[in-house]
Amino acid sequence: MANVTVIGAQWGDEGKGKIVDWLASRADAVVRFQGGHNAGHTLVIDGKTYKLSLLPSGIVSGTLSVIGNGVVLDPWALRDEVAKVEGQGVSITDDNLAIADNCPLILPLHRDLDGLRETAAGKGKIGTTGRGIGPAYEDKVGRRAIRVCDLAHLDTLEPQLDRLCAHHDALRAGFGQPPVDRAALLEELREIAPFVLRFAQPVWKRLKKVRRAGAKILFEGAQGVLLDVDHGTYPFVTSSNTVSGTAASGSGLGPNSTGFVLGIVKAYTTRVGSGPFPTELEDDIGQRLGERGHEFGTVTGRKRRVGWFDAVLVRQSCAISGVTGIALTKIDVLDGLEKVAICTGYRLRGKVYDYLPSHAADQAECEPIYEEMPGWSESTAGARSYADLPANAIKYIQRIQELIECPVALVSTSPERDDTILMRDPFVD
Ligand code: IMP
Repeated sequence: MANVTVIGAQWGDEGKGKIVDWLASRADAVVRFQGGHNAGHTLVIDGKTYKLSLLPSGIVSGTLSVIGNGVVLDPWALRDEVAKVEGQGVSITDDNLAIADNCPLILPLHRDLDGLRETAAGKGKIGTTGRGIGPAYEDKVGRRAIRVCDLAHLDTLEPQLDRLCAHHDALRAGFGQPPVDRAALLEELREIAPFVLRFAQPVWKRLKKVRRAGAKILFEGAQGVLLDVDHGTYPFVTSSNTVSGTAASGSGLGPNSTGFVLGIVKAYTTRVGSGPFPTELEDDIGQRLGERGHEFGTVTGRKRRVGWFDAVLVRQSCAISGVTGIALTKIDVLDGLEKVAICTGYRLRGKVYDYLPSHAADQAECEPIYEEMPGWSESTAGARSYADLPANAIKYIQRIQELIECPVALVSTSPERDDTILMRDPFVD
């Protein structure tokens, strides 16, 4: 398997950044295939920290970085991010960055709508990142989107803009907002167009060539399977398919290209935003794990909700996403706990479930069934081989492996690239 697809197997923030960085350093191309600048990937390379939202992680090491058609692209956010990363000494050219010319754009009107809806929803809000992701995907499937290739045809954009704005004006009127200023929007598009068009191309063609040459492709997923618009905790989800299958449709390569599917899994569970979370801990242990794990959102800075490891959810994610092996991250955050618990099933109205039911109300009522295990007082931080781990930490990892019915390919024991225990190399296996 020459290619690797990395996806989050929980609610995002599983620590994909470090793993992706390690794999990106060995890949010939890195591809983002869904989501947008709602993602936040932190890379620490040679002591320098890079915070990426939209740019694929390969960009820092000069690897060909591709933004696929499955992404929703905010061109102004991209320009800011490119300027920031270039300011850190990284060169970004049309040689190392390619953007799908059929990629839909996130416009200011999408951000407006995201905010208006969330404010109006009050307590029932989804807790989005406010980046306009959902409204942009809605316009894509509604066949009203302005896409990257439209930026080369701005002189004939008016009918498309009319259609898009008529839709948004009706929605805005419902929120008591003025209509979209079409002339101003067109002007903004004119101003940003040359910057985006510099990188625009049919990326499926470029990737086909790369693939034919036998290059290694890394598909870099954002968010996590439990935020998938079909398979996640709907409606408290993002608006894209976050499962591994999207690597193919979101980049223009076939399903036989995704290769080894590496599911990133945190040794406990976190979630940002609203929605069901059966194993959530609202006690001192939750507080402690949140502090030790620095559980604050990369994009919004929001405090993440924290809970015990939920083997039911991860087993479901691994099955849905065809995960070949998992990378278990942040095991060191559990160091020093007297006991650790794993959720092995749910109790719902007198019945036991070995999966998460689909209905939001059922999900909210699921009571976790726990299996407790002794913790470990020794430190796992920085361990680089299985033999360096305390016996109870090994038992915990082995039990997770059994319960999720998927092998552990690697264990990450600190944010440092080398603090990793490798059982199976995804690029070689
Ligand atoms: P949206 O993607 O901004 O529409 O937000 C929808 C839901 O997905 C919210 O609960 C967000 O907190 C969550 N979300 C979106 N992107 C990420 C991410 O990169 N990590 C974790 N949660 C995310």
